[in-house]
Amino acid sequence: PHATLGKRIYDYILVPVLDSQGDVTAVAGTTRDITEIRKLLEQKDAFLAIASHELKTPLTSLKTYGQVLQDIFESRNDEQAVLMLGRMDNQVNKLTNLINDLLDVTRIQSGKMQFNKDDFDLSRIISDILDDLQLTTAKHSIKKDLPDHLPMWGDKERIGQVITNLVSNAIKYSPAGGEIQVVLRKVGDDILLSVKDFGIGIPEGMHSRIFEQFYRANNFREAISGIGIGLFICAEVIERSGGKIWADSNEGAGSTFYVSMPIRQAKDQ
Ligand SMILES: Nc1ncnc2c1ncn2[C@@H]1O[C@H](COP(=O)(O)OP(=O)(O)O)[C@@H](O)[C@H]1O
Ligand SMILES: [Mg+2]
Repeated sequence: PHATLGKRIYDYILVPVLDSQGDVTAVAGTTRDITEIRKLLEQKDAFLAIASHELKTPLTSLKTYGQVLQDIFESRNDEQAVLMLGRMDNQVNKLTNLINDLLDVTRIQSGKMQFNKDDFDLSRIISDILDDLQLTTAKHSIKKDLPDHLPMWGDKERIGQVITNLVSNAIKYSPAGGEIQVVLRKVGDDILLSVKDFGIGIPEGMHSRIFEQFYRANNFREAISGIGIGLFICAEVIERSGGKIWADSNEGAGSTFYVSMPIRQAKDQ
């Protein structure tokens, strides 16, 4: 506590000063008052949580009204209106996903990300997600190499979210189009998933930093928009599932993202 400013938070950096024998003769250091920085960080987190929550509510009713309209125009056989409302629905979904990602970041920050674990077939989940994502692009061809079935125990929504993120990135960061190869294997007690694209790639030295919050590699010749939280969420989900995620890439020649994790996750994770 400070005599006049109340409770303060300080950051200390202390280093030992050694003599020629290597014995400590003194301690040198600095300290700084980080109370304001801490307060700003807390305000940022609170703002993100409230803003994303408030944005979500009107979006939910927007989606419902859009679907009602789609039904109305379908019954009137107005194909053009149905097509446009379908596109509108896609954009609403994109915005919803974005806001859900922001909400996830606030959950991670406050240690409140929940996992609901269950039995499911990972091959089936991946296959459905890939079919949906294939519909979003005409330039890319998503190739799947999956076992017929791969029974797993974990949070299927969260794991699905990771796959959606990785494949959406593969699409987004190969703007010229091309193949995207998704391979799933069982390796001992783990699964190994890889998502390979032939896009712009990731500059060396950034292969692990891209998993940090808001970090975006400056690998774009053309502007590709984003906010840099998808991989941060993936990394959190995979780590909390007892697994690992990493990237391998040659800049300009494409990237491969790998996920390895236990088939049966520990109940208490
Ligand atoms: N498949 C990929 N190919 C090239 N770069 C990628 C790929 N996936 C991710 N990246 C890089 O990692 C960064 C972080 O990705 P992400 O967290 O999904 O955020 P965003 O896509 O919003 O930028 C991206 O900005 C990009 O620089
Ligand atoms: Mg992304």
